[in-house]
Amino acid sequence: MKLLMLNGSPRGTGSNTRILFEQLLAGMRSVDADLEAEVMYLRNIRDTGNHVQSVVDADMVLLGFPLYTDGMPGIVKYFIDALHPNDLGGKPLGFLVQSGFPEARHSRPVARYLARLSMRLNARHVGTLIRGGVEGIQLQPAGMTKRLFQRFFALGASLARDGQFDEKLVRKLAKPETLNPAARLFLQTDASHFYWDMKLKENNAFDQRFDQPYAPGTGERKEET
Ligand SMILES: Cc1cc2nc3c(=O)[nH]c(=O)nc-3n(C[C@H](O)[C@H](O)[C@H](O)COP(=O)(O)O)c2cc1C
Repeated sequence: MKLLMLNGSPRGTGSNTRILFEQLLAGMRSVDADLEAEVMYLRNIRDTGNHVQSVVDADMVLLGFPLYTDGMPGIVKYFIDALHPNDLGGKPLGFLVQSGFPEARHSRPVARYLARLSMRLNARHVGTLIRGGVEGIQLQPAGMTKRLFQRFFALGASLARDGQFDEKLVRKLAKPETLNPAARLFLQTDASHFYWDMKLKENNAFDQRFDQPYAPGTGERKEET
């Protein structure tokens, strides 16, 4: 079987999407040793024609991306808009949506869109994996990511074995749907944003952390005088 894995992260090979895809693939290979897998990065939008051709040539397609402002990165939408309904014609199509905030509920609207998209593309939807709290996995020691990686491995194995993701595991992976009150309280403490403060400082953006680019009146383009 020819599997095509499309990575929709603008970070490309340095992405969390790649790390999770690797676990998924390892799980699939544990069941199907002859699996032929091709990984493509959507960040090179000049290669969109090749990406689409690979979809046509594949037996199964998985599309993974980070949640961006409760939606998908522009490069993912660009790729989706280039697809024709006949390109997938009954083929299995699955998704991974992973995000920084821990709650799965942020990813539900885009997951609904993906289920509908599968229908419009005449594909067989094999499931959508939702996972929050992923930012930082590149820095975490192996012990902290072990369970997460095991789950992705098991989900890959279930896909190769049954032709679709194990529903029970999909539900476990997505937890928590919403944060409990204690976790919400923790989010109000300085300790909870230590990592983000570090990133803001690294990028000389710490002073702008309270900016409100979407607040009414602040997002309008200023006319030059
Ligand atoms: C522009 C931008 C927008 C983002 N928007 C969200 C968001 O709405 N919700 C969320 O939980 N995480 C958001 N994130 C965090 C990413 O989803 C998260 O860091 C993800 O693990 C990055 O995956 P990648 O390394 O594969 O690109 C955003 C990150 C960026 C850069």
